[in-house]
Amino acid sequence: MSQLAAAPLTGKRILLGISAGIAAYKSALLARLLKKAGAEVRVVMTEGAQAFITPLTLQALTGESVRTSLLDPEAEAGMGHIELARWAELVLIAPATADLMARLAHGHADDLLTTLCLATDADCVMAPAMNQAMWGHPATHDNARRLEGYGWRLLGPDSGDQACGDVGAGRMLEPEAIVAGLSTAPEATPTVADDARGLSVTVTAGPTREALDPVRYLSNHSSGKMGYALAAAAAARGARVRLISGPVALATPPGVERIDVTSALEMLEAARQVAGDSDIFIGCAAVADYRAERIAEHKLKKSTGEDTMTLKLVKNPDIIATIAEDAAKSAAAGPRRPYVVGFAAETCDLEAQARDKLERKRLDMIVANDVSQAGLGFGADDNAALLLWRRAASEPARSELPAQRKARLAEAVIDQALRGYRATHFDGTSAGMPPAAPQQDSP
Ligand code: C5P
Repeated sequence: MSQLAAAPLTGKRILLGISAGIAAYKSALLARLLKKAGAEVRVVMTEGAQAFITPLTLQALTGESVRTSLLDPEAEAGMGHIELARWAELVLIAPATADLMARLAHGHADDLLTTLCLATDADCVMAPAMNQAMWGHPATHDNARRLEGYGWRLLGPDSGDQACGDVGAGRMLEPEAIVAGLSTAPEATPTVADDARGLSVTVTAGPTREALDPVRYLSNHSSGKMGYALAAAAAARGARVRLISGPVALATPPGVERIDVTSALEMLEAARQVAGDSDIFIGCAAVADYRAERIAEHKLKKSTGEDTMTLKLVKNPDIIATIAEDAAKSAAAGPRRPYVVGFAAETCDLEAQARDKLERKRLDMIVANDVSQAGLGFGADDNAALLLWRRAASEPARSELPAQRKARLAEAVIDQALRGYRATHFDGTSAGMPPAAPQQDSP
């Protein structure tokens, strides 16, 4: 495949492939815009695509018969795929579903569209469109990487409301944006799939355990699910992710480096070791606030004469505040790094408590959860959050993320953390604000 040049579309022979996504209804407008831009357009539809939009519509708009079948006796010498593969200067698939991406990524040739894609020498571009969870799945991420390796250029997907009611990344780019994307150099349009590539993200997750003696400890109910979901979401966007994990019963997300720790002091040590070369540091661990002043060498015995027992506890260091302080000290040499994101699990006065933590711990952004709500927070699969940012002006920015699966919420949090990081590092602002005003309910 040759490298796509930034070229006008006049006279360009474009083969528009349409696969079975609800966004196929936008392909009619796309075909029209391509024609308007002066391109010659022929359309190939997968079988499923015809359930969303009829070949007749595309035929009327392009003035060309629409091909749908690999075994088409009408096609030149019965070799429609070769004929089309040679004819095309550009293959544009919009929408490209998760299934089509998977088939193309693995060299399948089981219908006309996939077969001609294997046979063509044309520039190949696709506009992915699917549910946000499907887009966020590591399998789709791997397929996207693999396709880029084969020379495909991905335009989008966009982020926002989805036809299925979800909110997140996976919407097909609007037809106008696709046409504009075809006219820009590939380097100018990074994909969502790898927009965190080159960045290093560190996440702390799970509880800490503070030993009392060789067999007992103090801990809490944190499952680690939120921190693991954040690590997975950051890795899915191409970041190098290190996950500093307390003891949890969770599998390490694909592509994530896991550093296992037990106590708060161990977590602090691990965090300090990696924070220096982290661009974003997310403290999601439920760190025990106190530890035993001394750990008994032998198992503590039940006292026969006393009904009570006194444990002397000492305060644990605040890990995230320490990382934020280290970052502030190093800021003299350049933009403050890492961008520090904390969590606040509260049972009352959510916003006031979270704001207090944001300022006191000198965080850039805080994710506040109301853990008094049934079915949300600790141990649950769902969570809701209020995001707050610190900035010089008196009113910090805020954004509410409604109750949703932790995996989806994690994507939204990573999205906002990346925006905030970029705002502070590339837009010259000094505090943790994201570049655009944060939107209600939308990453
Ligand atoms: O003060 P609180 O525990 O509510 O603050 C929560 C935030 O601070 C979380 O981001 C948590 O990971 C972090 N934290 C920490 N070290 C501690 C206590 C909390 O990093 N010792």
